Amino acid sequence: MLRTATHTTQIVTVEFADGTQARFHAIWLRDNALDPDTRAPGNGQRLITIGDIPANVSVSAAEVLNGDLSVTFQPEDKTVTFPARWLADHIYDRDPAQQMGRLAPGLTTWESTLTPPSADWNAVHVDPKAKRDWLAAVAEFGFAKLTGGPTEPESLLQVAELFGYVRKTNYGPYFEVRTEVNPTNLAFTGLGLQAHTDNPYRDPVPTLQILYCLENSAEGGDSVVVDGFRAAEKLRDQNPDGFALLAGYPARFEYKGEDDVCLRSRRPMIELSPDGELVSIRFNNRSSAPFVDIPFDRMEAYYAAYRQLGDIIDDSAMGVSFKLEPGESFIVDNTRVLHARLGYSGTGSRWLQGCYADKDGLLSTLAAMEMAQPEAAE
Ligand code: FE2
Repeated sequence: MLRTATHTTQIVTVEFADGTQARFHAIWLRDNALDPDTRAPGNGQRLITIGDIPANVSVSAAEVLNGDLSVTFQPEDKTVTFPARWLADHIYDRDPAQQMGRLAPGLTTWESTLTPPSADWNAVHVDPKAKRDWLAAVAEFGFAKLTGGPTEPESLLQVAELFGYVRKTNYGPYFEVRTEVNPTNLAFTGLGLQAHTDNPYRDPVPTLQILYCLENSAEGGDSVVVDGFRAAEKLRDQNPDGFALLAGYPARFEYKGEDDVCLRSRRPMIELSPDGELVSIRFNNRSSAPFVDIPFDRMEAYYAAYRQLGDIIDDSAMGVSFKLEPGESFIVDNTRVLHARLGYSGTGSRWLQGCYADKDGLLSTLAAMEMAQPEAAE
């Protein structure tokens, strides 16, 4: 509900029932008009271009009607209603958060004390709330386990189908993670692996990874996940200049471990949006290529920051570890959460299958479920 509305020719100022005030520009309101000539009633897509809006757009009237905002635009002499709730959801009149490396809304960073978010295979298939909570955990924490699943090969593909689609790569629709005599990739040996994000040499990088356990009787081989955003926050607090270096210059990543494959990317280890929000982390010693985009006189400082970020990531206080049992899997947001594997012995067997999927599809499924069941999203 709106309490009041005042205006100049270029700005409308509203006060909501809770006392919140917000300003909206004439051009912004006209562009976002909700009438059927501006927005298609069926799919909600905009029917006008920026050029269709008169450059001299202005507000000739703004008033509260039944708790909502009614605005008349000139020179079109067009009157449009904006629901108060819609306005409240789209306020942009606030102090811009300028902190470099800040988190996007809805994210919670964590360290080793976090209990891994987990859901049950059967529950997420039959209970929409269980499925929504599972997807919401991936969105908020960047990873979640799924337990109690089948131990059949390719079950991981069913995990992806719960929210989206598998992203095929040169490794196929999925890949095997088990000891090989002549590995094409160090992931396929029994060596421990430092925490890393997968495939930073792709652009775009795979945004989700699913790792699904089929056998795990070998000694060791625990999975470890590390919150790369928490690591970035720590680096920013301990060494702001180093943080700015890793965010400010592209690293290079490359993979050419197979015939006919030569994947390369030029992206920063810490990627920020233009206004400073954390977007993604790329950290992978195995596929880092020579860095050639850092100025000569900053290279040593860049390496010092890289080392410091690695030390933070390797700190045992950061990682959440668990041993997957057959039929258990986990999803990681590969733009944020690093995964590691402790070394394992050659006795017994360890067989995981992995695949990639897209985070936008997961977030879309989650958002659609939250819109369909808003009362259950509390
Ligand atoms: Fe990996």
